[in-house]
Amino acid sequence: MSVLVITGTDTGVGKTVVCAAIAAMLREQGHRVAVLKPAQTGVAPTEEGDLDVVRRFAGEVTTSELRRYPEPLAPEAAARRSGLEPLTPGAIAEEAVRLAETHDHVLVEGAGGLLVRFGPDGGTLADVAWSLGAPLVIVARAALGTLNATALTAEVATRRGVDVAGVVIGAWPREPGLAERCNLVDLPEVAGAPLLGALDEELSDAQAPEFLAAARRGLSPRFGGEFDAVRFRGDSART
Ligand SMILES: Nc1ncnc2c1ncn2[C@@H]1O[C@H](COP(=O)(O)OP(=O)(O)O)[C@@H](O)[C@H]1O
Ligand SMILES: [Mg+2]
Repeated sequence: MSVLVITGTDTGVGKTVVCAAIAAMLREQGHRVAVLKPAQTGVAPTEEGDLDVVRRFAGEVTTSELRRYPEPLAPEAAARRSGLEPLTPGAIAEEAVRLAETHDHVLVEGAGGLLVRFGPDGGTLADVAWSLGAPLVIVARAALGTLNATALTAEVATRRGVDVAGVVIGAWPREPGLAERCNLVDLPEVAGAPLLGALDEELSDAQAPEFLAAARRGLSPRFGGEFDAVRFRGDSART
């Protein structure tokens, strides 16, 4: 079974964009891809959710959303206030397994960071990854502050028996400063896992072909891309 769990150091760090980039690359290689967003918050029933963004960038991949809560809150609070049934890690893992029966790869996008609770049983994305034996990709910011947040996420994951596959920088600036350039060296160090990519920061309006090209440039061969962390560091040092 090939399930990859995508978490972030925070909300708004680029998890959805990274999910879309990985999905686009896998799809281009002819794989059947499904993306699971267990809990979508802060979006009305008719509004665009993360999975719509994934399909806009990556093309037609299977998508599954288990709950949609209108208020922009963490899933547990959003569930409590909406009166909708809260999710459990078991239900999320079950849906991932179901999707894996008919797809080559299943990507699971969390809500916010790794220890965000889905409901009153205290279950988190870490429990989902652990129960599936699925590796974790940590999406991180490029800027100052990212090292601590990435280290916290990686350490908790490891302590809970979850394998950290690597770190992807969600939005790499066109003109990186000193902190960003140093973070290319230190992020894999503090995560204890490789830097598996860095996506250009200018992708929000990209059309699918342009997005695919950026995904290829910005993602490691693990996902079918051409990103080479050592070369990227060298190139960034010269900007
Ligand atoms: N590489 C990028 N280029 C342009 N915009 C980006 C990039 N990564 C993230 N964004 C923007 O930042 C915001 C948060 O990204 P998103 O992927 O939705 O984060 P998350 O899923 O972690 O909440 C979105 O508006 C998104 O379009
Ligand atoms: Mg998202």
